[in-house]
Formats: sequence, C-alpha cells, structure tokens
Amino acid sequence: MIIAIDGPEASGKGTVAKLIAQKYGFLHLDSGLLYRLTGVNLIGQIFQDNAAFVKAAIAAAHQITTDNLDNPPAQARSMQGGIMASKVAVIPEVRNLITVLQQKFAAQQGSAVVDGRDIGTVVFPNADLKFWVIASLESRASRRFADYQAKGKADTLAQVTAAIEARDHRDSTRAASPMKKAQDAHLIDTTKLSIDGVVEAMSAYIDAKLA
Ligand code: DC
Repeated sequence: MIIAIDGPEASGKGTVAKLIAQKYGFLHLDSGLLYRLTGVNLIGQIFQDNAAFVKAAIAAAHQITTDNLDNPPAQARSMQGGIMASKVAVIPEVRNLITVLQQKFAAQQGSAVVDGRDIGTVVFPNADLKFWVIASLESRASRRFADYQAKGKADTLAQVTAAIEARDHRDSTRAASPMKKAQDAHLIDTTKLSIDGVVEAMSAYIDAKLA
C-alpha cells in the first residue's frame, strides 16, 4: 500500500507523514530529503554557467541512495538546503533519478508513506491513498520561522516568508512534474489544525478507505 502526501513547504506534510507511517506500521520516505541531499553537494561550489550546474547536479543525484536517511547533515535541513533542493529539482534528469529511487524503495518495502511535491501525480500515480496538504502562507511562514528560531538562526519572519514564496513559485511553475494537487487527492488544510488534528483527519479518511 502506498500513501502519497503532497503539498508545499511547511504545510505540515512531513511531520504528519512520519506520524501516519508510525501509526499504520509503514516506512516513511521523505522525498524532499533526496533532493536536499543532492542540492547540498553543490553548496559552496562555483559554476561557470547553468550547464555546469546541471551537470554537477546530475552527478550528485547519481550518488543518492535511500539507505541511511536517518541522520542527514544539518545543512540538508537548512533554508539554504531547501533552496538548493528546489533548484536541482527543476532538472528533469535529476527528477528521473530520484523518481526511480523512490519507486525501487516502495517495490522493496511493499508499503510506504511517501511525502513530497509530485508523489500522487508522477512518482506513484496509482497510489492507494493520496493527500494534498496545504496551509496559509502566514501560518507556514510562522511555523518555519519558529523552527529556525529554535535552531538559533537569525532569519527574520519577512525573509522566511519571501523564501517560502520563492520556493512555492519555483516548485509549481517548473516544466518537469510541477507541484500540484493530484485530481484524486484528498485535500487537508492544516492552517487551523494541530498536528494531532491533522493526523486524526487523515486517519479518518484512511480508515474509511480501508474499511
Ligand atoms: O519537502 P522539502 O521542503 O524537503 O523539499 C525540498 C525541495 O525539494 C522542494 O522545494 C522541491 C523539491 N522536491 C520536489 O521537487 N519533489 C518532491 N517530491 C519533493 C521535493
């Protein structure tokens, strides 16, 4: 069984994907982490032009595996890691490599909860259950801002908001598998829900479908 959970940055999809996986005894695959690990390889490098960036990104994506995803480097979870992930994620060859990795992971495991931007549309179009998780820009920005503050980061709320808007724009307007709701995905707006509330809403939908 595959449960696909897609949505924009800081919508809460990653947190609830993990909890839903625990609750139903499935493995969780955070597909964004695969793009982040690809992107962090390129941080600090200088590229002569876009072609050189694309070449390096494809080479980095070839090195990514779904093994040992439990303790990623801190940079992978940083704002810069997210921006780099979004930049490498526009490259079709990178997407193809990461898509195949996810499909192999699911084939090996049998069941999984996978979260990302294109899981229900491209990676697992035949997923048993699909969710599209959203929240207002204000609530997403204040959640991300709180995360960064807890980690001692100096970014302001305005900077975090602008970074989320820029990432939403890049992720939803790229030509290769842009972020969008699968037609058959169940919409959950987490703006006014607690994490427990989101897990409850998802579980009710899952249980009804399984019954
Ligand atoms: O979910 P996240 O914030 O960790 O994702 C980081 C970036 O990776 C996101 O901005 C776009 C890209 N991504 C993607 O293109 N497709 C996915 N399935 C997951 C992430």
